[in-house]
Amino acid sequence: MGTDGYVLGLVGSPNRDGRTFQMVSTALEAAATMGAGVELVQMADHVVGPCRDCQPWTCMTEMRCQYSDPAFEHLSDKLLNCGALVLGTPIYWWDTSAMVKYLILKMFRVYARSAPLAGLPALGIGVAGGTGNGLVSGLRPIYHFFQMQQMRALDPQPVTRFSWESAIVQAREQGVQLASMVGKRLPFKSREEGLLWYDNLPYLSMNRAAERRLLAAVATEALPDGALPDLARVLARADHLAAKGRTLESLKASTAIYEATVKVFEATQG
Ligand SMILES: Cc1cc2nc3c(=O)[nH]c(=O)nc-3n(C[C@H](O)[C@H](O)[C@H](O)COP(=O)(O)O)c2cc1C
Repeated sequence: MGTDGYVLGLVGSPNRDGRTFQMVSTALEAAATMGAGVELVQMADHVVGPCRDCQPWTCMTEMRCQYSDPAFEHLSDKLLNCGALVLGTPIYWWDTSAMVKYLILKMFRVYARSAPLAGLPALGIGVAGGTGNGLVSGLRPIYHFFQMQQMRALDPQPVTRFSWESAIVQAREQGVQLASMVGKRLPFKSREEGLLWYDNLPYLSMNRAAERRLLAAVATEALPDGALPDLARVLARADHLAAKGRTLESLKASTAIYEATVKVFEATQG
């Protein structure tokens, strides 16, 4: 279980050349330009089965699933031997994809106690490529996975079709960052340090109202200047209402901004 020199990119989408693939491959290409070895794996080729909850819990001590699952063997072997990780998921119903979740759940069962991935540099990307809903909630399971395996996570990257250009730029920057960390494990010195690390990451502790406000802002940023002249005032009103504790009204204002923005965005996309 050495830390090899390559950055592993897992594409957790059945859509081989979709947006998740584009994000993960952008990060890997950037890492490669800095001299890092990279490997992209399509999880669609290795769909892990559900954990069957072995009793007694032998997989924990043997660090191997007791049931035949070639997909899990393949992916867990890649994870245990990589020097850094990019894990990308499409957002389905405000959540990660099933293939990502099954991998995570089996990794918990076999490796969460022994934590062989402690300190592994890791980046999670969630692509909410439709409405944009779930841009944060869909990333949480991935960062929960990183946390439980004690990985050294980079800032999460919530991606929408509205923020696509800037997300590509960020994927490149984070690919470069991963290249400088590859093979260098940075385990946390204590459980508490690990907990604080994850508390300090952006986005993840947002509540639903804040996530909706974020989505409205992200969509708004995609519009050409002056496309919706009233926008700044309405956004300010949503924030003012939230500050006053009038959360439901604020949430409705965020939704109204979001809906108006999407209409203009779609019209400008042709
Ligand atoms: C079953 C299903 C559920 C989806 N749910 C959401 C969602 O909650 N929020 C969102 O923004 N997009 C949603 N989408 C759209 C996908 O996120 C979007 O198509 C994305 O680009 C998929 O990634 P891919 O291009 O790598 O396949 C959903 C798509 C499917 C098929």
